[in-house]
Amino acid sequence: MPTNLLPGEFQWGVAASAYQIEGAAFEDGRGPSIWDTFSRVPGNTADGDTGDVACDHYHRLEEDLDLLVTLGVNAYRFSVAWPRIQPTGRGATNPKGLDFYDRMVDGLRARGIKPHLTLYHWDLPQALQDEGGWGNPDTARRFADFSEVVARRLGDRVESLCTFNEPWVVATLGHEKGIFAPGLKDRQLAMQVSHHLLVAHGLAVQALRTLVPRVPLGIVLNLSPSYPARNVAADRAKAHLEDGLSLRWYMDPLFRGSYPADVLEHLGSDRPKVTPEELALIQQPLDFLGINYYMRNFCHAEDPHARPPGEQGFTDMGWEIYPQGLTDLLVRLGRDYRLPPIYITENGAAFADRLEGDEVHDSQRVAYLEQHLGAMNAARRQGVDVRGYFAWSFMDNFEWASGYQKRFGLVYVDYGSQRRVLKDSAHWYRAFIAAQQQTDQPSRAGI
Ligand code: FCB
Repeated sequence: MPTNLLPGEFQWGVAASAYQIEGAAFEDGRGPSIWDTFSRVPGNTADGDTGDVACDHYHRLEEDLDLLVTLGVNAYRFSVAWPRIQPTGRGATNPKGLDFYDRMVDGLRARGIKPHLTLYHWDLPQALQDEGGWGNPDTARRFADFSEVVARRLGDRVESLCTFNEPWVVATLGHEKGIFAPGLKDRQLAMQVSHHLLVAHGLAVQALRTLVPRVPLGIVLNLSPSYPARNVAADRAKAHLEDGLSLRWYMDPLFRGSYPADVLEHLGSDRPKVTPEELALIQQPLDFLGINYYMRNFCHAEDPHARPPGEQGFTDMGWEIYPQGLTDLLVRLGRDYRLPPIYITENGAAFADRLEGDEVHDSQRVAYLEQHLGAMNAARRQGVDVRGYFAWSFMDNFEWASGYQKRFGLVYVDYGSQRRVLKDSAHWYRAFIAAQQQTDQPSRAGI
């Protein structure tokens, strides 16, 4: 498959997203997003936390970019806030919003760090939600327009452009389970939303190909391999369905041009309205696939809460630590699909970190990263073309419905003072990257 992603140095990065770190939610002309609205409703987030201030990254840009240099990364994955750039989601742009990202991109490049830009990491302008949000097909056209605005200004200096972060989360957690913005509980709507997101992706990629033909384009999916809890037919069927709903539902239209038949049948009257033209549009050639990996799906036919034996432990989110799942996932995707090169665009863990003076001894996170990097490299040795790895996250931040209680950062944030402190994992990652770059042979690095 042809790709714009030329062979080059492996991208060793960290990732973050706009709403989770920027703060300055109502400054310099930024419009409200669905997360501003959602997080204000009592009960929606832990402790009623919002992204109003977050890590105050908007005001601390230079200092934070210097911190990336200290981390030793050669790549940074960030997202732009649509309502900072188009406060109502359409029409006139807000110059101060675009200027901020301009400074970000230039500041990264000046420091020798490659900017990887995500267009949509969940912060839809509230004005568009008021018109139906992702349930309204017109939002897909608004998104394509927005992507052109961003590419016109920044497309000459970014290393890659990604349309969406985790459409499954937007559709399912936001519109079926109601635990993320916009907080709706309607499966039929959620499935229609998933389709509109993919259409929006297709429209944006089409527009960007013309506008910035040399920029690598892709999408980021959260993918988990699904395993039966027991070796019985009912659990195997459950795992197959889970795989269909979470993985094949996105991978098949993007890379094969159709939705999986078994899932369409399962959905019955909740299946989305889809035209053949839309399916053709969704299947745009991509230069990379971004994969966010956190855990596996453990599928028990009768007990939805069944937990794996968990010999390897659980994170502070209650997510099982299962590095083998990353190898299995990558090898399987390489077998089942014709893939472009892959970036691991997120991988990491929350632990209950404690600040002790100027130190945070997060040995569990170090172990987590080490094991998952090993799992990634095992897949590379089996021929999977992985071109980069981005640890989630650059710094502790607003973890959506979990607010500030869950800490994923390599850098600790003391929210009262906004002081940043490198955790042990940050020091470890820096040394790891340096060693990798010396040998330039990750598969021989002994992990
Ligand atoms: C992913 C999100 C990211 C962060 C991590 C923990 O689903 O993309 O913003 O919340 O999970």
